[in-house]
Amino acid sequence: MTQDELKKAVAEAALKHVVEDAIVGVGSGSTVNFFIDALAKMKGRIEGAVAASEASAQRLKGHGIRVFDLNAVSALPVYIDGADEVTEHLHMIKGGGGALTREKIVSAVAERFVCICDASKLVPVLGKFPLPLEVIPMARSYVGREIVKRGGRPVLRENFTTDNGNLILDCHGMALLDPPRMESELDGIAGIVTNGLFARRRADVLLLAAESGVKTLEKKQILA
Ligand code: A5P
Repeated sequence: MTQDELKKAVAEAALKHVVEDAIVGVGSGSTVNFFIDALAKMKGRIEGAVAASEASAQRLKGHGIRVFDLNAVSALPVYIDGADEVTEHLHMIKGGGGALTREKIVSAVAERFVCICDASKLVPVLGKFPLPLEVIPMARSYVGREIVKRGGRPVLRENFTTDNGNLILDCHGMALLDPPRMESELDGIAGIVTNGLFARRRADVLLLAAESGVKTLEKKQILA
């Protein structure tokens, strides 16, 4: 199977986690695009969606799925999104598409985070994929120096502005052995709007597509 076929398979498997007659939280990225296309098949059975990026909102609307502003929604039973890397503890790096801030906000509202990935995203330790930081433009150099102090190598994402009008620094070589601790530490640096570690609010369920089929890993099966 190609990587796109694996993404499509996991996206379709995610449909059974969608709660009928409710609003579903939808992330962003190429795997989520397959999910949005699959969701169109059951659009008559959901109230609508909240999108974590403008691109996802446009794709949802293109399928005739109603898109709600998060401020108009008091609860989301489930949020479905991909990841750039995920561990078996369901800690993730996200933000490869630059939508990490809205993804973190929408996932914070959701009761259940279902992460959908092909098997290439499963890693023993996070950090081979450079950690994205969304940064206020005037803080770019300061944040860069703070990352260098922590052993990282920040690289400005060229010709890219987030949906919120900010920059992305992709940080290479970060030691991410304790993702929740590093997530909190980075949240303490002025000028970082959001860091791409999703560890304190990790996924509740991981659906992982491999040649042998789509496997399900639940948070409750995990000790730490
Ligand atoms: C978007 O900002 C990201 O967090 C995506 O969820 C992540 O990059 C996964 O994208 P793909 O499904 O395209 O690999």
